[in-house]
Formats: sequence, structure tokens, C-alpha cells
Amino acid sequence: MNSVANADVGLIGLAVMGENLALNIADHGFKVAVFNRTQKVMQSFIDRNPGTPGGLVGCANLHEFVSALKRPRKVIILVKAGPAVDTVIQELLQSGIETEDIIIDCGNSLWTDTIRREKEYSGQCRFLGSGVSGGELGARFGPSLMPGGEFHAWKQIEPIWNSIAAKVDVKSGKPIENAQPGNPVNEGVPCTTYIGENGAGHYVKMVHNAIEYVDMQLICEAYFLLKQSLNLKSIELSEIFSEWNKGDLDSYLIQITSDILAQSDPFNPEEFLVDNLLDSAQQKGTGKWTSVNALDMGMPVNSIVEAVFARYLSSLKNERVEASKHLQGPTYSYQGNRNELVRAVREALHCSKICAYAQGFQLMRQAQVEHHWQLDFAAIANIWRGGCIIRARFLQKISEAFTRDAKLVNLMLDPYFNEKIKQGQASWRTVISVAAQSGIAAPAFMSALAYYDGYRSEFLPANLLQGQRDYFGAHTYERIDKPRGTFFHMDWSSASREQITIDFD
Ligand code: 6PG
Repeated sequence: MNSVANADVGLIGLAVMGENLALNIADHGFKVAVFNRTQKVMQSFIDRNPGTPGGLVGCANLHEFVSALKRPRKVIILVKAGPAVDTVIQELLQSGIETEDIIIDCGNSLWTDTIRREKEYSGQCRFLGSGVSGGELGARFGPSLMPGGEFHAWKQIEPIWNSIAAKVDVKSGKPIENAQPGNPVNEGVPCTTYIGENGAGHYVKMVHNAIEYVDMQLICEAYFLLKQSLNLKSIELSEIFSEWNKGDLDSYLIQITSDILAQSDPFNPEEFLVDNLLDSAQQKGTGKWTSVNALDMGMPVNSIVEAVFARYLSSLKNERVEASKHLQGPTYSYQGNRNELVRAVREALHCSKICAYAQGFQLMRQAQVEHHWQLDFAAIANIWRGGCIIRARFLQKISEAFTRDAKLVNLMLDPYFNEKIKQGQASWRTVISVAAQSGIAAPAFMSALAYYDGYRSEFLPANLLQGQRDYFGAHTYERIDKPRGTFFHMDWSSASREQITIDFD
């Protein structure tokens, strides 16, 4: 039993992420008190990790845990998002946590829960919600951290967050990735910044995940299009992705894709593992939360929603197997040049990726209005350059775009991205037509192009749609030759068809 309050920070929840985050913090010289509901797990963690630079303090119960912490106490919770978070907070409050102490929820919590919790526990403790991205390795050697909540509480944890976050090179913005156990990265710019009040940190982490969904889906579509159209082996596809990783598409997700595609199957070493994985995707919910929120706010995040739907459709495996026996596709197969298609798919991926990020940032812009946050989009792009799953060279360009114009309405309008789409769009359209002609589903590519074409259109057919709504439901319409907000109704059912001005007051 530890009776001295000398731990700099406490961490509850020793699953892989929790263990790794605790080790990361201890590597930076902070003493970490740890607690896990199953004591054996805590003990085994302590036994496996002697002699960390900061030191670990194993606590058998929450009273011991709270007593081990320096004031104001700082407690990181890393438990399953949902009711478990509230249970732990309640237990902490009954175990000695006081008004000035800080509880930081580092799970993938729904941002509305974070807003609710901050209010609910106000006066009993100070509550922060911090997004953590980077998976197990990120947690261990440097994640991207997206904290939100009361600013003064953030200032108390800022030194720890700055130390443990991933670092990028000051000049190039590239991640510095040479951390080893006991020897963390200390130089460079930390991939963390204060995001905003209450649920802002968790909201931005949720949008990060939604962009991750699209990024992954686009890569999968590129892989499948090339595999099907050119009849390529997994190792050839791996080489293509590895080549792409040297250019504009340089990113963690492209790099791991190349690695996954090169992996042989442990059960059948002459085959590739990816060819023997079941094509039925799972998800934990952050993409769906983003889609629901976008629908609630009326924001067109076409590709994000399509990426979620693509996972749902993939999971209907049995139905698809049955349908494949009955529903016919085209007989067309691509006969063109191999290298041309590879290049075109790369361009299509780049253009679609620009649209996906444009949607994510557009959504955050709207959310900040709804929630009265003041999001710094250049800073958000900066902290996504390293540590997180979507880390990419691309993020440096996004950061530069929002630095040029903090009020940029849509990323596609930035001169750099506008030019990139201009250069790539002919290939993008070719790829989509190859997919359509060949009967290969490419929902993220296609929805991204629909978003692009819709967004750049001065005119859309919604004039006719408004006419239809007015025809069957007297829902009224506005006219192009009258001020916005003036509504009309055509008396469609009468012979005279008179148009009347509607006064809603
Ligand atoms: C991250 C990841 C992480 C997790 C996803 C997986 O940023 O480190 O996004 O949060 O791996 O939640 O999400 P799905 O299970 O929904 O694909």
C-alpha cells in the first residue's frame, strides 16, 4: 500500500491502450498511479514493467489510488465508452476526488456525453474529454491528443499532454518516429492542442475517425478496382501502394496497406493473407455518430456516410453471396493500359481524399457554430500530422490552407487543393466510369465526385424538387427573381393556376 501522495497522474483502465498510455507517461518522467478493476491485471502490469523513468504505483482500490495522487489530482480514465465512464466517475467521487481535481476521459466517448458529464459533475470535480488517436502504438510512443473542456483545467494537464503526444519535425511537419521503451521522443512540435470547451475534443476526435473511415474505404476501393480490372496479385498491389507512399498520398494508412498486402498467409504460406480474410467489415460507431450528427445539422458529408454504408453493405455477406447468383452485372472488362489505370486510380484517390477532408472540416465548421466553439482548423490539421491514424503528408497542406485563410469556407476552394483537383479530375472521372462499366462498387469514389460536382454547381435540380413538394403538399417555393425568404404557392389543382404569395407571419 502506497501512503504518500507523490504520483503526478493516475490512470484507470489497464487494457492495451491504458497500459501503453501509462508507460508512455512514465517514460517521460511522470510518476503514474494505476488502477484496474481486476487487481490481477494491475499487478501483472506492475510486475512486467519495473524501472520505468517516472515509476508506476499499483493501487489495490480507488481510495488508495486517490490518496497516491498529488493535488490537484489528475485522473485519466480509459474504459469502454458509455455507462462505464459514469460508473468510474461516481466511484472516484466517492473515493476522495475533490472539486479542484481533474478527471480526463480519454476513451472514444460520444461528445454529447462529454458535454453532459461536464455539467453533471461540475462543482464535484473538473472534467475534461480528450480524444486519443494512434491505436496501441500511438498510445505507447506518441498519440495525437485532442483535449476539450475547461481551459484552466487543460492548463494543468498541458505539460503531460505536450510530453506524451507524438512529435513532428518543426520544419518539415513530418512525424518523428524513433521512440523506444524508456527513450521517448522529446524534440519537435507536440501533436496536441486545446481544442475548445466541453465536448469539442471528443467531437473533433469523432470527425477524425469519420475521415479515417473514408480514407480506409477509398484505399479499399482503389485496391479492389486495380485487382479486379488488372487481375493483379496482392504483392503487385503492395508494390503499387508502396510507390504511392512516396508522393502526395504518403500516409500511415497507405503504408500499412502496402504492408498488409505483402503479408503471406500463416495457414497457407504460398497465399496472401488478405485474400483469405472475410470481406465483412465491423465498426464501433464513431462513423455512424458523425453521419447522424451531419444529418441532424443538414451537412452534406456524402463520402463519410457512404463509407459507413459500405461497411454495413459488406456485412450483409450471406445476402450478397445469394444475390451474386441472381443479379447480373455488365460483361465489360478493362482492356486499357495497366500503368495508365494505376496512375488514374492514384489521382482519383487523391481527389476523393480532398473531398473527404473538405466534408470533415465543413462539418466541424458547422458544429462550432452550433456549440459556440472556436475551432482553430490549422491547429487541428497540425495535430493530425503525427501520431493519429490519418497522419499524412496531406495534413501539412491542409494546415497551410487554413493558415492562408482561417475562414476558408471549403478546403476545395484553397488554391493548392483546387489545382490538385483540376489536375486529377479527368482521371478521377475515367476511373469512376471504368468502375461503373465494369460493375465494381466504388461508393466512396463516386460519392466524392458527386459532392464535388454538386458543390461546384451554380444550378441544381432542386428547383424542380421544390415544384414537386409544392404540387403535392403546398410546401411553397422561393423564386430566383424575388428576395430570399419570400415564399409562393401555385394553386396546382385549380384550372386558373394562380400563384399566391405566402405570408408566414
Ligand atoms: C484511432 C482509431 C481508434 C479505433 C477506431 C476503430 O484514432 O486510434 O480511430 O479510435 O481504432 O475507433 O474504429 P472502428 O472499430 O469503428 O473501425
